[in-house]
Amino acid sequence: MSASLKSNGSSHANPAELVGRREPLQITLRPASQTGKAELLVLGVYADGSLPRAAQSFDEALNGRLQELARQAELPPKVGETLLLYYASGDSTRRVLLVSLGPRQEFDGKAYLKALGTAAQALASSTTRSIDLPLPDVADMDRSDAWCVQQASRVLADGYYKFAAPHFASRQSSKNNTATPQLSLSVDEDVTPELEYAVRSGRAIAEGMALTKDLGNLPGNVCNPGYLADAARALGKEFGFPVEVLEREDMAKLGMESALSVGRASDQPCRVIVMKYFGSEADQKPIVLIGKGVTFDTGGVSLKPGDDLDMMKYDMCGAASVFGALKMVARLALPLNVIGIVGAVENMPGGNASRPGDVVTSMSGQTIEILNTDAEGRLVLCDVMTYAERFQPSCVIDIATLTGACVIALGSQTSGLFANDDALADELYSCGTDTGDRAWRMPLWDEYQDQLKSNFADMSNLGGRPAGAVTAACFLSRFAKGYRWAHLDIAGTASVGGERKGATGRPVPLLSAFLLKRAEHTTPVQR
Ligand code: BES
Ligand code: MN
Ligand code: ZN
Repeated sequence: MSASLKSNGSSHANPAELVGRREPLQITLRPASQTGKAELLVLGVYADGSLPRAAQSFDEALNGRLQELARQAELPPKVGETLLLYYASGDSTRRVLLVSLGPRQEFDGKAYLKALGTAAQALASSTTRSIDLPLPDVADMDRSDAWCVQQASRVLADGYYKFAAPHFASRQSSKNNTATPQLSLSVDEDVTPELEYAVRSGRAIAEGMALTKDLGNLPGNVCNPGYLADAARALGKEFGFPVEVLEREDMAKLGMESALSVGRASDQPCRVIVMKYFGSEADQKPIVLIGKGVTFDTGGVSLKPGDDLDMMKYDMCGAASVFGALKMVARLALPLNVIGIVGAVENMPGGNASRPGDVVTSMSGQTIEILNTDAEGRLVLCDVMTYAERFQPSCVIDIATLTGACVIALGSQTSGLFANDDALADELYSCGTDTGDRAWRMPLWDEYQDQLKSNFADMSNLGGRPAGAVTAACFLSRFAKGYRWAHLDIAGTASVGGERKGATGRPVPLLSAFLLKRAEHTTPVQR
């Protein structure tokens, strides 16, 4: 079967394969008293050379040789440093991956995530088929046991992510077909249902991240607005929730002239995609997640410079994170109502493209002077945000690769967080620190609104260079008057460039923590 791509990407592009295919890493839990016999043992080592309690039985089974090994190995004491060793024991050779945990007294959640991250990288680049990993001493840490198990499951499963979209199957060499290994986590206590659920939820988060990464990594000639709509339908079909796709004509009827103006010059008609997951009573107000789904951002007539322009295929990563978060929610059958709405559009120059100076009327009735066609994300989001009012949401969170200014402000480490509600902002902030998928709150103060003044409309879409991430958020805030709202600017965090070019799956961990927390007070339904 040929997997060639037509230039418009239409051939063999079956999103259902992509949406349904991935099985995350298999993970089992084992009490520390039980010793595993995997090919590879991942051994945390504190700076003083001591081992986690969960590793004790492994050490005893080898007459203390692991402890000896850990003391003698020249493992750098910095958290997350790794060293791969081999040793022969009787009939077999085993591998041990030493991971530095730093000083025992300083070991906290942050160090834990760091150590897991580097361990996951080392593991994913090895060919090991089975792995034992005794977890560090949870009792000594500032986090709960369930948190530790969930994060380990998430980080390790995510570490095994590989971009392998089915459309590109023929290009993958066969040696890439290494099966993912069996991973066994040993915990220094009983294996409770709570801990089993932590494995499940951690894997589900990684599974959501994988979908987010896959969609992000697909090229713009495959992943266009129609593809995103099909991917949503496939996701809805797999998990049994309804998906509604607003076509151009539907959008016109609703008065979404702002969003429509962005997509007008593309041969790929824009869409608004609505995914409705109802896991709770119908009268429970839904959480609405809105994603910027600009499947390629050329800048339009305000054309972007050519350097690294390929990165603008990642301008739909906000949308992709909505898909990922919903997949996580659906996989765990969380007792929540969550509506995901994606504004899917391609921003192209062309004969019928918007010109700088054009004025459009948004669905809200507010008029916008388009001073720069490259500030298109807000033009799409504003209409979707008005549309969201009909769901009477408990809160709305939009996720968008919105501004280069946010990358300048916060780099690739941190997402920008804006909100018109302090409690919601605090909630999201703590989900960021909790998962290491961090966001930092930025101001939305009225003083900044002046920068959006227009002589010809209610506002312009351009706030000038100073505080560009803030003025973009201020623009959105004018469409969020009807509900509690937060905005995540993920322009810096959603993808990385250079040698390791790819989507990061962020901010799915943050969103998942938020959704799991909201679902906490109800019992998860077994599927
Ligand atoms: N998609 C870009 C923002 C972006 C930049 C994402 C870099 C990821 C990496 C957005 O549509 C954009 O072009 N924003 C402009 C806004 C400006 C014209 C007000 C920007 O940031 O330069
Ligand atoms: Mn743009
Ligand atoms: Zn954009």
